[in-house]
Amino acid sequence: MRSTLLAPDTGNRILQWADLLARHSEPPWDDRGELTATYLTQAHLATSGDLAQLMRGSGFDEVALDAVGNVVGVYRAALKGAPVLLTGSHYDTVRNAGKYDGRLGILVPIACVAALARAGRRLSFDIELVAFAEEEGQRFRATFLGSGALTGDFDPQWLDQQDGHGVTMRDAMRAAGLPGDMAAISALRRDPSRYLGFVEVHIEQGPVLVEQALPLGVVTSINAGARFVCEAGGRAEHAGTTPMGMRRDALLAAAEISLLVERRASQAPGLVGTVGQMDVPGGSINVVPGVCRFTLDLRAPTDAQRDALVSDVLSGAKEIASRRQISLECNESMRAAAAPSDPAWQARWERAVTAIGQPVFRLNSGAGHDAMKLHTIMPQAMLFVRGGNRGISHNPLEIISAEDAALAVLAFEALLDDLDTTHDDRQD
Ligand code: HGY
Ligand code: MN
Ligand code: MN
Repeated sequence: MRSTLLAPDTGNRILQWADLLARHSEPPWDDRGELTATYLTQAHLATSGDLAQLMRGSGFDEVALDAVGNVVGVYRAALKGAPVLLTGSHYDTVRNAGKYDGRLGILVPIACVAALARAGRRLSFDIELVAFAEEEGQRFRATFLGSGALTGDFDPQWLDQQDGHGVTMRDAMRAAGLPGDMAAISALRRDPSRYLGFVEVHIEQGPVLVEQALPLGVVTSINAGARFVCEAGGRAEHAGTTPMGMRRDALLAAAEISLLVERRASQAPGLVGTVGQMDVPGGSINVVPGVCRFTLDLRAPTDAQRDALVSDVLSGAKEIASRRQISLECNESMRAAAAPSDPAWQARWERAVTAIGQPVFRLNSGAGHDAMKLHTIMPQAMLFVRGGNRGISHNPLEIISAEDAALAVLAFEALLDDLDTTHDDRQD
């Protein structure tokens, strides 16, 4: 099923669809021409509407918005009761994001189903495409919320989380016309026995493929991660009259902890540590910071390495805080285990890449993905697509080429063919 002979029109169509979706951005980013579409904002809901329309227009048999805002499209098999291939990625974004993070993994399968529908072809399995509503944990601290609903990992406490304006997730859901209750959300849990597995296409979000001058890479494992929201408490006082030796400066404690994170995460290859947010709530230019809120994002190739990194950072932070007579509270907001690709599904991607005449290049994923959630209930493997601009991501400079997008469609089609033949239980 070679619907695309590296036809630039397929790749360009993917880029055009991404541009279409990127029109929807929330204030104040929209006025600046920047893309931000966080969970259940107007921009996010408009994006889900475009995705549903795109799926319907591309030949999916059923398209629906589920109770957490996932857009679910199903392209039926030739026979009733066939098993299901699950695929997809997320459509929410970080702030001032690129256009392809997550969304490429929704648009590539849409292009494949469009080609199947045009050819009037049915496979020996259903294709269930899920555009996951929330993966980034931006508006609320909950992460992998969309895929977590499918794996039964939606934490009921998430419904009480508040965004920066005090709106609870439950109220945001209800304002978006979603039930906002656990009965409806729990019903989204998938029965793994109906599924063959989960595949996800995603931009690499790093420099490896561009350095290798390769368009595609097969993911071997997704790194483990943990995130914390911290608050350092000192004493707000006059910046002009308080001697340096008498201060309990919450921001300086957080700053020293940030340098500890950098030092510890630099100790071994594959470790990363980031303080992505730091804020002195109600701070003033002439007041010693009494409170400083900051975040920790700690990752490593294995769970054990992650746990060691977390333990060293938290114990080091505690030592810094006590030496500076600062209170410190760090609450874990996310923990995701490393997700090695299922060997059989990694081999499928390798066969697909070979089938389209591309070399097989294996790499691990420093970024987290919905695949690590689905990993908990079914076999999964991912395909990476080269990012331009040295693979920069979580940045508007994120870019892919039409040719590479077309190759990703070709590889996905080759995987579907492979699965169809190795899985074809139709009676001849
Ligand atoms: O942070 C990540 O790795 C992903 O983009 N959520
Ligand atoms: Mn991301
Ligand atoms: Mn992503």
